[in-house]
Amino acid sequence: MIRLSAKVIIDPPVVLAPMAGITNVAFRRLCREHGAGLYVSEMITSRALVERNPKTMRLIRFDPDERPRSLQLYGVDPDVVSAAVRMIVEDDLADHVDLNFGCPVPKVTRKGGGAALPWRMALFAAIVRAAVRAADGAVPVTVKMRLGVDRQHLTYREAALRAQDAGVALVALHGRTAADFYGGEADWAPIAELAGLLDIPVLGNGDIWEADDALRMVRETGCAGVVIGRGCLGRPWLFADLAAAFAGRDDRCLPGLGEVAATMRRHAALLADWVGEDTGLREFRKHVPWYLKGFGVGSELRAALAIVGGLAELDDRLGKLEVDQPFPYEVLGRPRGRTGGGRPVALPEGWLASQDDCGVPHGAELADSGG
Ligand SMILES: Cc1cc2nc3c(=O)[nH]c(=O)nc-3n(C[C@H](O)[C@H](O)[C@H](O)COP(=O)(O)O)c2cc1C
Repeated sequence: MIRLSAKVIIDPPVVLAPMAGITNVAFRRLCREHGAGLYVSEMITSRALVERNPKTMRLIRFDPDERPRSLQLYGVDPDVVSAAVRMIVEDDLADHVDLNFGCPVPKVTRKGGGAALPWRMALFAAIVRAAVRAADGAVPVTVKMRLGVDRQHLTYREAALRAQDAGVALVALHGRTAADFYGGEADWAPIAELAGLLDIPVLGNGDIWEADDALRMVRETGCAGVVIGRGCLGRPWLFADLAAAFAGRDDRCLPGLGEVAATMRRHAALLADWVGEDTGLREFRKHVPWYLKGFGVGSELRAALAIVGGLAELDDRLGKLEVDQPFPYEVLGRPRGRTGGGRPVALPEGWLASQDDCGVPHGAELADSGG
């Protein structure tokens, strides 16, 4: 159990990773129904929040029964991040704020944002301090980061210490650099290093595909808890497995295709409730291959499900599945979602020349959320 505040208690010590375009109110509900822990929103751009951009205001929606409400902020300007956190506190928009310093997407790092930002250590510390000060003890602030820009430019050690000094409640570390993107295997050794170095809890992240991987990460690194990203794509029931594993039980969810189809239908309906049937079903399409991974589904039906346009059409196509298939054991422990990686990181010119420059990188404060 990890206690961040009276309202934010993470028990079991399992966190749904923020994933842009995935961990919206609909997917979080599906995951929450399977287990306890903390379920983080997709990344919200601090500037868009402060400007009350309509899309962003929709993205920060929580269900009435969703507690704690956990919101991830992205920002590169201490003043804007401060204003966003103040707004969250004053308008009672969330119970927890996580700061994103791990985004490896070229459009973000090219401007000095995301995983590139902690290299500018003084700016990083200023952002984290501004967030903690604006939270003023009303909501815990946490930080999520990668190992660094690349193996020659690691930042996690110093950034974690500075974040701790600034007053964050915990640090989550993904065992990859920005250059690694999602390729290769996550390096868990730095997670162990931080767990030994910091006084605050450290969460480990990277390549937890099954509940037993989570137990292994805790055992091998001494981290206080785990953050689960791609492993739960197309299988929100992984959180039931994680709850069982942390309770010392061996039972695991292995739903057959009939149950998976019912979850798909529910996921689509929740998305439709959130943003309307048209947009909701468009959002749903990306989940289809993850749900169907390993099941025997003809290529034509698979393709038809991946372009489904409405709930009635979805019902019709799900009705054509041969639903008496058992869970395909061969997909257990296998990566899902993004796995590409290993490329030079796009950075602003001269970015690596100085770590002390506190200037806000021009154009890195995205106007829009998600992505
Ligand atoms: C589609 C997708 C979207 C993501 N969006 C975010 C995000 O908004 N904020 C963030 O901090 N990390 C984001 N991540 C990174 C994950 O939170 C996590 O750190 C990463 O996937 C590694 O964990 P895993 O190996 O369990 O997937 C995203 C990852 C994926 C696959």
